[in-house]
Amino acid sequence: MKKKVFLTRRLHDFAIKELKKRYQIEIHSGKIPIPQSKLRSKIKDVDGLICFPYDKISQEVIDSAKNLKSISTYSVGFDHIDTEYAKIKKIRVGYTPEVLTDATADLAFSLLLDISRRVSEGDRIIRDGKWREIYGAFDYVGVDLQGKTLGILGLGRIGSTLAKRAKAFDMKITYHNRKRISKTKEKSLNAKYVSFEKLISDSDFISIHVPHTKETDQLFDMKIFKKMKESAFLINTSRGKVVNEKDLVVALKKKIISGAALDVFEFEPINKNHPLVKLPNIVLAPHIGSSTKETRMKMAEITVKNLDLGIKGKKPIYSVGY
Ligand code: DGY
Repeated sequence: MKKKVFLTRRLHDFAIKELKKRYQIEIHSGKIPIPQSKLRSKIKDVDGLICFPYDKISQEVIDSAKNLKSISTYSVGFDHIDTEYAKIKKIRVGYTPEVLTDATADLAFSLLLDISRRVSEGDRIIRDGKWREIYGAFDYVGVDLQGKTLGILGLGRIGSTLAKRAKAFDMKITYHNRKRISKTKEKSLNAKYVSFEKLISDSDFISIHVPHTKETDQLFDMKIFKKMKESAFLINTSRGKVVNEKDLVVALKKKIISGAALDVFEFEPINKNHPLVKLPNIVLAPHIGSSTKETRMKMAEITVKNLDLGIKGKKPIYSVGY
């Protein structure tokens, strides 16, 4: 009898075809994310689970799946999975880094360009029929990137790729990591290591590339915004919970910082009445860091491979913890 696999959302046809060769699969349709009670009942006797960032895979969920051997998430982030508990239960957890590095760095840089040159704001101005109101020499100006300091918090795969983009735009690059990278790599990226405090106080743009953990939860709050330059912009393509959104709204309203560009939010999806949506000095993207045709296909391929390996009791290509 074929082993069972549950998917909390549909993947590309080629991936579904591949899965069907080896497994009896069931795909959740309907409300996204799947309600927790439904998820628990659907995975009772599955061997494998394919999930997405909005699916909370808690201890309780893991405990409801008696045969589970493999959890494969269609994402680089895995903060939605209790990986510690999965490890205790000897369940393999796979994720999809590397293949989405370029796409996510591209998005971070396009947010940076957008907020610095006010592209989305201009789009709104035209759609609202207000172009004639911004003819003056000082109206509606952006800022240059050349010579400005980009502070990258978390110079890992995505942060380093962003640094390459910024180098081509003649930006000064500083970074802060828990662990300093090699001097050779620093030299090739033209990136200077600085303390967290210096990164906050000296950057013209700060781009966040750290995972959401206990240590980074709500890291960017009013205390931090007050230490940033008034002219500074915040870019976040990592996880929304790294930023205290209530404080960010106040910081943007009171012009404590100049602007922000976000692809991720504390609770997703946000709706059109969210306080951030009312602000002019912000660019909002609906969590599309990895969302290119090519990248999403590669992610699907890795997700299936990770799942297969985990079900066989082997380490996934990209494995968390166990
Ligand atoms: C991920 O894969 O975790 C990203 O947030 C998706 O854009």
